[in-house]
Amino acid sequence: MHQTSLRPQLNASFFFFLNPQSSALTLFSTVSRSLPGLISSQPRAIRQRHLLLAASPVRPRPSPPVLLHPRIAGVTRSSRLLLLCSLLRASIAPRYKSVGSQKHTNLSKMETSEEQKYGVRRLEMSDKGKGFIELLQQLSVCDSVSDKEFEDRFRELSSLGDDHVICVIEDHVSKKIIATGSVFIEKKFLRNCGKVGHIEDVVVDSSTRGKQLGKKIINFLTDHARSMGCYKVILDCSIENKLFYEKCGFKQKEIQMVRYFV
Ligand SMILES: CC(C)(COP(=O)(O)OP(=O)(O)OC[C@H]1O[C@@H](n2cnc3c(N)ncnc32)[C@H](O)[C@@H]1OP(=O)(O)O)[C@@H](O)C(=O)NCCC(=O)NCCS
Repeated sequence: MHQTSLRPQLNASFFFFLNPQSSALTLFSTVSRSLPGLISSQPRAIRQRHLLLAASPVRPRPSPPVLLHPRIAGVTRSSRLLLLCSLLRASIAPRYKSVGSQKHTNLSKMETSEEQKYGVRRLEMSDKGKGFIELLQQLSVCDSVSDKEFEDRFRELSSLGDDHVICVIEDHVSKKIIATGSVFIEKKFLRNCGKVGHIEDVVVDSSTRGKQLGKKIINFLTDHARSMGCYKVILDCSIENKLFYEKCGFKQKEIQMVRYFV
């Protein structure tokens, strides 16, 4: 058994190597330094200031001498492994955690700002002045709606509470409504007096399509239907939008029939 007089680099360990012959575990000071000294028992490894934490060989076979740091030479194999684990935790985990948490913080900051910029909320009376009707005009025929008409319809729908929800995304920079959709809850006798959510009038402003806003709207409406106890949520769409709805978790079922009155 050899001992080294070099001071171990306890706080600079990023990489360890398990020698299958000796079951020796080597903790290297840096990855680059470790490469020439992968055979942990070589004296060169000591010169390169590697700390070797070794366990006794698993099988008694001729193996290179195992190098032990004096402080752990008298400790049992399992204690050494425990020591190794705690060293790894102490030296690597905090760095890893801090990098990870830094990333996580940045990510959640980005998510928060995205959320603030493009949060989904329910329609408000003032949204008429923010281009809500103009947005609907990108979807289908929607003549101009007077303030009085808007207010009356808004109050009517509001009186239905959670049974009819129109949601919007407002761009807080331009103060414009850039996405919308609605869901109403149908109450049935079927399915033990079950409920079905019907999604309607989904549209994203043409200048902001492709930014996952449509998906956000659909997720919001779907979550609402689920929270209202609906056993399913359904909608009609064109063939061109089939893939979009599939990406939102929907699947095609049956066909739509319609009879217009006007
Ligand atoms: C359909 C519509 C609401 C999609 O909104 P959007 O914000 O552009 O869509 P998203 O960015 O949320 O797209 C989500 C995913 O669906 C895909 N997608 C969106 N529209 C698609 C389409 N027409 N065909 C195929 N894939 C589509 C996106 O590429 C994205 O895929 P990804 O998650 O793999 O990146 C929007 O294009 C729109 O308002 N169209 C005009 C009005 C309309 O047709 N409304 C639907 C009435 S049923």
